[in-house]
Amino acid sequence: MPEKVLPFTKEQLMQIIEQYPTPFHIYDEAAIRKNARNLVQSFDWAPGFKEYFAVKATPNPYIMKILKEEGFGADCSSLPELILADKAGIRGEDIMFSSNDTPAEEYQVARELGAIINLDDISHIDYLEKHAGIPEVISFRYNPGPLRKGGNAIIGKPEEAKYGLTREQIFQACEIMRNKGVGRFGLHTMVISNELDPTYFIETANMMFDLAVEIYQKLNIRVEFVNLGGGIGIPYLPHEEPVDLHYVSQGIKDAYEKKITPNGLHPLKLAMESGRMITGPYGYLVATVLHKKEIYKNYVGLDACMANLMRPGIYGAYHHITVVGKEDWPHDHIYDVTGSLCENNDKFAIDRKLPEIEIGDILVIHDTGAHGHAMGFNYNGKLRSAELLLKPDGTVEMIRRAETIDDYFATLDFSKL
Ligand SMILES: Cc1ncc(COP(=O)(O)O)c(C=O)c1O
Repeated sequence: MPEKVLPFTKEQLMQIIEQYPTPFHIYDEAAIRKNARNLVQSFDWAPGFKEYFAVKATPNPYIMKILKEEGFGADCSSLPELILADKAGIRGEDIMFSSNDTPAEEYQVARELGAIINLDDISHIDYLEKHAGIPEVISFRYNPGPLRKGGNAIIGKPEEAKYGLTREQIFQACEIMRNKGVGRFGLHTMVISNELDPTYFIETANMMFDLAVEIYQKLNIRVEFVNLGGGIGIPYLPHEEPVDLHYVSQGIKDAYEKKITPNGLHPLKLAMESGRMITGPYGYLVATVLHKKEIYKNYVGLDACMANLMRPGIYGAYHHITVVGKEDWPHDHIYDVTGSLCENNDKFAIDRKLPEIEIGDILVIHDTGAHGHAMGFNYNGKLRSAELLLKPDGTVEMIRRAETIDDYFATLDFSKL
């Protein structure tokens, strides 16, 4: 299998580890910026194109600030994510608030920040009005249900997914909101996750443009923006290719010119809220081999575990592993690469062909920049690792320290025992 490249040499990494003990996630700022620019440039034809970075992918304000500098907004789905956006200087309509099963307080804070609220259900209209008031601009999340094929283990099939309004409800909701004085409307959808087929995103744009046109024709409401959601996949496997954004953009442009312009809806703003493809390939989980174990299979045990990266354990997801300094060695040993949780699915890799591994070797687990550290948890008393930023000048900044035992116990009052 071809090797994936690292943004640092073995010597650089060993210096980093001297200062910051493993395990940690490290993000490559230069690569994140380059990728962000490529996305924006790919859609330079689209009126007011905006990427609202899906904060849930990498909820770190230093990363969000970098992305803000590249022109991104934030897609938030909870109160802490709204606070993170605010801290990173992302405010007003640069925030889209797309949550579901939303508590009143979150709508209130979203309104205070001037975020665009994206409602997940028609019943939330009354709830929003009661608890936070009706804003000037509103967006609805569309769930096409059986009208759209697709979905996968991460997001579910549209008709089985809990999100969004049905097609019929979208029309009703627009009318209700117009009657309540809303003057500006947006549409949103999120029907796929980790998809590498570029045609899928073009189909989504076609679906949303058709909906916007029908709303205009039936209700005389001009939708101001369409948010196509996230879901762009990344090449986790070394032989996979990234989604060709220029191809996606061109396909969406063709759909825009066929559907939006002739129906009098130009200019319609285009938005996305990708997470994975923005930071995913540019983050790495660095861990040290603590133990080797030979029973019915051969295991190498790391100082990282599923609490640091849960995707292999819950989805069986592939994450490439580099044994640092042994990139060119024959990959002629077969290992399960494990963490220390009392869960047998705490494995970063199963039956993986790797070079011969020794205790003390450094392993780099690739593509952990999105839905990696973010999905961490404390089961088994495991502490969440630090996050580091590899800056374009080669220096490293710690952008989140590792949790300590005191953090873990912070919610307990031992004095009452
Ligand atoms: C509503 C919504 N938007 C955006 C995203 C980001 O998806 P991705 O990181 O796959 O681009 C998610 C992911 O869970 C989501 O639920």
